[in-house]
Amino acid sequence: MTPAGAAGEASAGEASRTYRVALIGGDGVGPEVVAGAVHVLEAAGRRFGFGFEWRELLVGGIGIDTYGVAIRPEDVEACRDADAVLLGAVGGPKWDDPDATVRPEQALFALRGGLGLFANLRPITVAPQLIAASPLKPELLAGVDCLIVRELTSGLYFGKPSEPRTTPDGERAAIDTLWYTEGEIRRIVALAFEMARGRRRKVTQVDKANVLATSRLWRKVAEEIHADFPDVELEHRLVDSAAMTLAKWPAGFDVLVTENLFGDILSDEAAVIAGSLGMLPSASIGTRTTAHGRHGLYEPIHGSAPDIAGQDLANPLGTILSAAMMLRWSLGQHEAAAAIEQAVSSVLDGGYRTRDLLPAHPSDAVALTLVGTREMARVIGDRIAI
Ligand code: IPM
Ligand code: MG
Repeated sequence: MTPAGAAGEASAGEASRTYRVALIGGDGVGPEVVAGAVHVLEAAGRRFGFGFEWRELLVGGIGIDTYGVAIRPEDVEACRDADAVLLGAVGGPKWDDPDATVRPEQALFALRGGLGLFANLRPITVAPQLIAASPLKPELLAGVDCLIVRELTSGLYFGKPSEPRTTPDGERAAIDTLWYTEGEIRRIVALAFEMARGRRRKVTQVDKANVLATSRLWRKVAEEIHADFPDVELEHRLVDSAAMTLAKWPAGFDVLVTENLFGDILSDEAAVIAGSLGMLPSASIGTRTTAHGRHGLYEPIHGSAPDIAGQDLANPLGTILSAAMMLRWSLGQHEAAAAIEQAVSSVLDGGYRTRDLLPAHPSDAVALTLVGTREMARVIGDRIAI
């Protein structure tokens, strides 16, 4: 058998590999950006010799409209059963009534909590082609490469009690509970240290330790874990100072680890640096593994953008880059993941831009081609096919 034949056989063996992926388009622009990512994933599968079995689920506002709940237990089970989950976005004004007992976001919490996805990874980088689209000065953007590691299944989002109350004299009140156990802190901080080892070996742990008891526990636990990672630098930073430093010197951060609510806020702030919220991917993982890698849920960090839904205007790159993270983390297809990332970079080099990526000054937009969601996914798929 010739070497070429042997290689052919190896790739034929790979070709039989089919990954089972649960697809949650969700609401607003969610279905459009997920369709773009599916197009790109299929192109990557054709090139690298693997395929997908998609399982589409109606979750979020569309779940409420269809079944009366944001997510059904069988949908959570379908996601658990899949090799990975790819999600667009959930929510929208239609389901925003503050008195409603069913809300689209409940689906996210059921998935995060139900599947044990305690770590939300949000990488923040600036594509050099998009520096003009960032609100920050170009000189602040050199070397920005930060990974936000947000705790996702505890803190204020999950603490009980969380409910409306009434004071003894009849005034309306409400309570939420900020609660963390040391085990919950340990597993996320340890993951942050592990991630830092593959990067620039610095962990910034963000908290409000001058005020909050939970934050003081985070600091203690982070110091204890640091003993196992002496090769990684650990710094503590108060969340208000971290928010300011992200805008003043974002390149100073490597891995930033923090609790659920602080991570939510800081990651949206950091996302602006990248030029558009539409660019950024995320992965939510726990400790469970499948035959192919870690089980996880992948989604862009932007929301459902109902104002532009259904108009082919949304930027699919955050979802397409989330799909690359899925290939890398959950499906073990590292080459295909890199090919997607290269294809994204190549279409940006080629001047393709969705509306959100146009520079603030129209004169800088001369050599750019404005494309919609579908066209952006198509040109990326074409680059991968090469
Ligand atoms: C996010 C979102 C969600 C969150 C909302 C939609 C509940 O902002 O994933 O960052 O706060 O976690
Ligand atoms: Mg958020």
